[in-house]
Parts: sequence; C-alpha cells; structure tokens
Amino acid sequence: DGTVVRRDRFSGGPARSFLSSMDADVRIFDADLAVDRAHVVMLAEQGIVTDAEASEILGALDDVEAAGFEALPDGEDVHEAIESAVVSRIGRVGGKMHTARSRNDEVATCIRHRLREDLLGALDAVLALRGALADVADAETETVMPGFTHLQPAQPTTVAHWALSYEGTLARDTTRLLAAFDHANESPLGAAAFAGTTFDVDRERTAELLGFDGVVTNATDAAAGRDFLLEAVAALASVAVTCSGLAEDVVFFANRGFVDVDDDYASTSSIMPQKKNPDSMELVRGTAGDAVGAYQGLATTLKGLPRAYNRDLQRATTHAWRAADCVTEATEVAAGAVATADWPADDLEAAATEGFSTATGVADALAAAGLPFREAHEIVALAAERGADLDAVDAAAREVTGESLSDLADPEVVAAALDPVESVASRDSTGGPAPAAVRDALGDVVEGVAE
Ligand code: ARG
Repeated sequence: DGTVVRRDRFSGGPARSFLSSMDADVRIFDADLAVDRAHVVMLAEQGIVTDAEASEILGALDDVEAAGFEALPDGEDVHEAIESAVVSRIGRVGGKMHTARSRNDEVATCIRHRLREDLLGALDAVLALRGALADVADAETETVMPGFTHLQPAQPTTVAHWALSYEGTLARDTTRLLAAFDHANESPLGAAAFAGTTFDVDRERTAELLGFDGVVTNATDAAAGRDFLLEAVAALASVAVTCSGLAEDVVFFANRGFVDVDDDYASTSSIMPQKKNPDSMELVRGTAGDAVGAYQGLATTLKGLPRAYNRDLQRATTHAWRAADCVTEATEVAAGAVATADWPADDLEAAATEGFSTATGVADALAAAGLPFREAHEIVALAAERGADLDAVDAAAREVTGESLSDLADPEVVAAALDPVESVASRDSTGGPAPAAVRDALGDVVEGVAE
C-alpha cells in the first residue's frame, strides 16, 4: 500500500481533525479527479507508467468518482483520500499515480480548476444583474425621479439613469472578474513540491488536458503563489461593494415609496402585520461584509508567508470559496429584485420637485442668459428661502442685482427649468439623464455586452 508509510508515521493524534482539510475539500473532489486523470494520462504518454498501469488507475478513479466523496476513506485531505481509495481498489500499482508530483502542485491545480468554475458562476450572476439594470433603463427612460447627494434632494434624474450608473460599475467589475479568471487559468501541475522533478513530465500536456491556457512556469511560484486567489476575491469583493450600494439605494427608495420591491424579495414582520420590508436587499448590502472579510482574511493569511509551500495555505483557500458563494448568491438575488421591482412614475415625478431640486437648472438658465454663475447661484439660493417658485426667483433677482427676472433672462426658460421633466430633458450632455442621452448610453451597453 503506497501510502502506508506516511499514514503510519502521521496517524494524527489530538491534532488530526485540525490538520485535515477534508470537510472543505468536498469542493475540489471533482477537480482532483480531473487532475489525477490528466496526470496519469500524461505519465503514460511520457512512458513514466505503462498504458496498462494507467488504465488500471483510471478505472479505479472512475470507481472512486461513482462512489462519491462521502465514500472516501478518512484522510488528511481529499488528495490523500482519493489516492488511498485508488490503492485500496487496485493495490500497489495505485501508488504510481503520485509519481512526479506533490500534493503542493496538485492542490494548487485543483483550486485553480475549481475557481474557474466559481468565477464563471459569479460572472453569470453579474451579467444577469447588468441585464436586469439595462432592462430597467430601457423601460424607465422617461421616468423622472429625485436624485440625491448626501441623501438630500439634489437634482431630478431618471430611474434609467440611476440603473445605468450601476451597470457601468458592474461592467468594470466584469473585467476584474475576467482578469482574475485569466490569471487563475494557468496550470501549476508538474511543479511537484516546489522544485520540479527528475521525471520527464510534460506540463503543457496536463495543462491542455485540464483546459488551462498555459502553465505557471516557475515551480515555486506554481506551488506557493496564491495571488490569483487574492485577485479573485478582490474582484468578488468589488462586485459585493457595488451591489451593497445598489441595495442601499433600493432600501432607501422603498422607504420613500419610490420603488415597490416584489413580494418575493421582501419579508414581513412576525408581529407588525402591516410590514413589508426589503430584507433581501438588506442581506445583499450585508454580504459586502462577508466578501471584504474574506479578502482581509485571505490577505492576512498570505502576508509574509515564506517560499515555498506552507500549510497556512490550506486555510487561505476557504476564504475564496466563501466569497464566491455569498457574492454570487447576493448578485443573483439583486438581479431578481431589480428585474421584478415596480417604479411608481407619478409618485416619483411628484417627489422630484421636493427640496427645490431643480435649483441647479434654474441657476444654469440664469447663467446661460449671461449672469455670472456665482451670482445666479446666490439668486437661486435666496429663491429657495423665498418659496422656490418663479415669483421667488424674481424677488431674489431684485434683491441680489436690483433688476427683475425678466431683465436678466427669459422667464419662460426659467419656468421650464423649474419643471423636473424639462430639467431632466435639458441635461443631455454625454452621460447625462436626458432620455436621448440615456438611449445613446444604452446603445453602447448593448454593444459592449455583444463584444
Ligand atoms: N490540503 C493541503 C492544502 O489545502 C494540501 C496538502 C499539502 N500538504 C502538505 N503537507 N504539503 O493546502
């Protein structure tokens, strides 16, 4: 039995379960089988094991797969357990599977193999959310709503413009996830413990069999480097932070009656019968805590680790799985909530005049008529105190300049600037909320996604 010596020397003792990564390794069970198969095929192609030996081992791996993770013998980790399971099926020849490799390059390869899948899952979720936001933008181009800075009414905008603001951030989050995917998509297999092997392994071949783009060349970098995990978790944390802002907006909008979150994404109270709470959005907001915590846990674990392999790395991996799971789920939920929410257009437009949020547009109109913007700003600030309508602007103009509004500007233009719909329509600079500008931006989004 090829593993007897090691297991006899290190049978465990009080630290046995502390040493074991078996529970977390369920996640890389399939990856390890794939890595074992690729390695054995390569060993046979290189003449390091015979074809007969390879096919015996491959047959045993099929049996191990069919029996499933739960049927594995006890082990320090899934790599050792699968090897033991192979050996217990076919005897000594099973011990040849681990020729020319170490668990160090093996686990690094498994993590990358599995992480690709997780990053693709996260990308799917992010694309679903971006799609939902683009659909909202398409449907709500004309839906005027209040826009806020410091959570105070600031300027009227539209639901579409708000939605595209998150789509834009998520587009960059997408490129971050893709970059993390590319860096994860290189094979460490064949690095052995950290210093290569005497056997004539074909690392490019195992990389190809496992669908990697190439190899991590330096054997020590390959076995010990986990920067790809840090990058992946950073990208996931960025998605989570983006989603947390979106979720906070929805919670706040719901509070003001600006959005109606679908019942599927809301909860009620166990005591207050009238309650409809946007709980799912609060949990999305809270997930950023998990993701940033995972990043911090991972970075702190990796910090100062010497070359080459150190067992600390076993604890690094689980931070990445935690981040991938919670961020993907939160993003999927956010996509569903966005896709099913209702935007009450009349209420939103009425609210868009609250707090004199058209003030900036009025100042712009006065400045466009020739007044220095600083004076226009002063007039409108005074008008805010005098009643925030056309008469108030006139009164303020007289106080500040000694001239009436009609001497300074066309009162009709100023009246239009006071109207939230006109106010939005007039802000048609590139990236602005005017329906025409938003439709242009939406066209770019659709093109960007097609690429
Ligand atoms: N389970 C370990 C990990 O997750 C891999 C085993 C490497 N163990 C070792 N003693 N070199 O990193």
